[in-house]
Amino acid sequence: GLKIVTIGGGSSYTPELMEGFIKRYHELPVEEIWLVDIEEGKEKLEIVGSLARRMVEKARLPIKVHLTLDRKEALKDADFVTTQIRVGLLEARAKDERIPMKYGVLGQETNGAGGFFKALRTIPVILEICEEMESLCPDAWLINFTNPAGMITEAVLRHSRIQKVVGLCNVPIGMEMGAAQILGVDASRLRIDFAGLNHLVYGLDVFVDGISVKERLLSLLTERKDTVAMKNIHAMGWEPAFLKALDLFPCPYHTYYYKTKDMLEKDWEASKNVGTRAEVVKSLEKSLFELYKDPELCDKPPQLEQRGGAYYSDAACRLIHSIYTDKRDIQPVNTRNNGAIMGIPADSAVEVSCVITREGPKPIAFGELPIAVQGLVQTIKSFERITIDAAINGDYNQAHLALTINPLIGSDRLAKQILDEMLEVHKAYLPNF
Ligand code: G6P
Ligand code: MN
Ligand code: MN
Repeated sequence: GLKIVTIGGGSSYTPELMEGFIKRYHELPVEEIWLVDIEEGKEKLEIVGSLARRMVEKARLPIKVHLTLDRKEALKDADFVTTQIRVGLLEARAKDERIPMKYGVLGQETNGAGGFFKALRTIPVILEICEEMESLCPDAWLINFTNPAGMITEAVLRHSRIQKVVGLCNVPIGMEMGAAQILGVDASRLRIDFAGLNHLVYGLDVFVDGISVKERLLSLLTERKDTVAMKNIHAMGWEPAFLKALDLFPCPYHTYYYKTKDMLEKDWEASKNVGTRAEVVKSLEKSLFELYKDPELCDKPPQLEQRGGAYYSDAACRLIHSIYTDKRDIQPVNTRNNGAIMGIPADSAVEVSCVITREGPKPIAFGELPIAVQGLVQTIKSFERITIDAAINGDYNQAHLALTINPLIGSDRLAKQILDEMLEVHKAYLPNF
């Protein structure tokens, strides 16, 4: 049987993952799940771990759920390691969101200055996990959910010996579900060719039963107020002429790039009224953990749907299943580019439709991206690469360069101010600086 290790197992998302494994048990025989967390997460781990055990019991499945603070014990002989950690917890996320806003730039956990600092804090920890995996489970697959997922995947690929790594995000599945709903078809009939970067992925084409329906989808989309949004992103419609000319299916995070001013205003308003997303999530989490404590609760509660991570267990389980069974179906994941997208370095991570085999994802070659989006994708990839190098070398100038070239900051002067303030507030989590 399979041994799965989930690092950050005390997360409020864990019931989602458990539900995925339980639903697929007949095709994916998980023998043990090890939920690992750190000292600060001990209480959450115990609460969500007990719920995980009740879920398994209710389903009458022989899955053993282990809870531990000893990561090394857990990693020993693992088959799949999933990571869902948040270095610095929601407290750090709230700072990532609030501080940039003070300077009039976007405060978001995975894009712009917020995503940059999340990367600086997280990359050293993930590389430490990779080092442990090298000796304790060198053949295991690392399935990374930790944000910023694209940069984390690339850091592992370029700076560790762990090459069996796949970065996962629920955005592509969310786009498929959203498109199917808008078109009024069953999601199983719909397929999207995905290419781009994590949280910057485009649907290059959209098919139902093999026939392209992209034009129809884009025109239906312009009739709507939302952008096939997620719970964590304000919904705002696209200008019809823009979308028609773009001729691609954008992801919800594209609103930060194509509606920068509008999103800034919305986020600013929200931060004054209900708080930043981290602050909203803090109170959501509190009530989720109150629910999880209830010994009568033996299922994933519907309240978890208030979080942005819908379908995340579907993405994880369907990926693990296809690697495990050598299924060779097509799934969008973050993997080594290897020439799939021209104009992006071969050793960089991209989010792209891949054939999923026992040897891992084989990206589908899409050639050059349409000229309207090629520049943005390349710019963000430059930002990501320089950020990764800065995170590893603790290099101040590189960090300043990365922030400055990010179009959501757009000023070397502001970049320096934001950098200086945030290096200070996050310093406990930035040992390399
Ligand atoms: C989406 C993104 C995830 C992100 C989440 C945030 O699902 O794909 O990468 O972590 O939203 O949701 P939250 O509820 O934490 O704001
Ligand atoms: Mn085994
Ligand atoms: Mn994501």
